[in-house]
Amino acid sequence: MPRNTQILLASRPQGEATVDNFQLVVSETPPLQEGQVLVRHHYLSLDPYMRGRMNAGKSYAPPQPLGEVMIGATVGEVVESRHPDYAVGDQVVGMGGWQEYSVVDARQPGVLRKVDTRGACQTLGVESENVPQRGQFLSDSQSHSGAMGQEAGKKWAAAAHSQPTTPKSDRLQVPLSYYLGAVGMPGVTAWYGLVKIIAPKAGDTLVVSAATGAVGSAFAALAKARGCRVVGIAGGSEKCRYALDELGFDACIDYKLHQGDTQSLARALQQDCPQGIDGYFENVGGWIMDAVMLRMNAFSRMALCGMIAGYDGQPLPMRYPALILTQRMRLEGFIVSEHTDVWPQALQELAGLVASGKLRPRETIAQGIAAAPEAFLGMLKGKNLGKQLVKLF
Ligand SMILES: NC(=O)c1ccc[n+]([C@@H]2O[C@H](COP(=O)([O-])OP(=O)(O)OC[C@H]3O[C@@H](n4cnc5c(N)ncnc54)[C@H](OP(=O)(O)O)[C@@H]3O)[C@@H](O)[C@H]2O)c1
Repeated sequence: MPRNTQILLASRPQGEATVDNFQLVVSETPPLQEGQVLVRHHYLSLDPYMRGRMNAGKSYAPPQPLGEVMIGATVGEVVESRHPDYAVGDQVVGMGGWQEYSVVDARQPGVLRKVDTRGACQTLGVESENVPQRGQFLSDSQSHSGAMGQEAGKKWAAAAHSQPTTPKSDRLQVPLSYYLGAVGMPGVTAWYGLVKIIAPKAGDTLVVSAATGAVGSAFAALAKARGCRVVGIAGGSEKCRYALDELGFDACIDYKLHQGDTQSLARALQQDCPQGIDGYFENVGGWIMDAVMLRMNAFSRMALCGMIAGYDGQPLPMRYPALILTQRMRLEGFIVSEHTDVWPQALQELAGLVASGKLRPRETIAQGIAAAPEAFLGMLKGKNLGKQLVKLF
């Protein structure tokens, strides 16, 4: 059995997370039991939610246990199998964690999903019987460790990375890594906030923060497909150029030019959103959210998806809460894994946008499992362009 390099959570951050919070270990993969498969991971997904799991405090999901493999979604290939439904060479998606290999009890429904990117086609429908019920992920993750073979996140993985059900003629080719990004959990997150909370009409003006990341880039394509004007907020001129040239944004504001000045950012928003803002997809929080609120129209909607500016524990006070009343705004937070009923529809649309070239996701790819902590910390600081991944094999 191969040696497995793993990254464990060694300690909980005090404020900003550091590489010292992680520990690299090497272990032998155990011999397979009946029903198990050994998966070699090709890509590991790095996502902002992992920062929240490093803390011990109360949240929508329990903390990552100390001394265990960090939680994370993976795509990879079966290299040994003692399960009749899985053959060596099958490509699978699951919650393998920050490690090179995972031993998976494949008898558990939905724990692994097969995908085929080497053939001519691939579909992205979701079999309804494999989709977790509302809230199921939260209760399953009580024992979450991030290591495959434990209960953690399995239902979520099932929803995120599922088997084809659509007719052959509708099948679409999707690179393996996209199952962790544009046509995976981040893409569905954009879809849910846009469609179910912002619920835009053609002609509406929408704004999204962290605009060029995994979620923001999918949001732009989905919103343009609905005939909206889409304005991004991102950090730096390179990201803004990418937003305009490749992601289809109508305008993009570099928030770093405004240096924490809410009024200055609000003036820039007024210029790019002359009709005001009908919908806002919030990924950041703090002064950026304050500036957007100043330009929100009457009866506008705000989807609260992420507050990454506060993930190290900083308070994020809201400066103008009275605007919620005076503008009769609707604000709603959501956790995408609790809305598995929409995943099939969302994945289908996202795959279609990728296939048609209307969604052209970029990826920032770190090399090797040992690079995961640095890459993760870099992503939290905006060093990524598009989806942050780690290439393992
Ligand atoms: N609710 C849910 O179910 C759900 C699911 C998935 C993701 N999310 C949330 O969605 C958001 C985006 O996730 P993602 O996977 O697409 O990550 P991402 O955008 O690819 O990466 C995070 C980005 O956040 C921006 N950022 C970090 N700190 C910032 C700060 N202080 N001020 C402004 N921008 C900052 C950086 O972009 P810039 O360089 O542009 O600043 C960075 O690239 C996160 O908040 C995440 O927690 C929520």
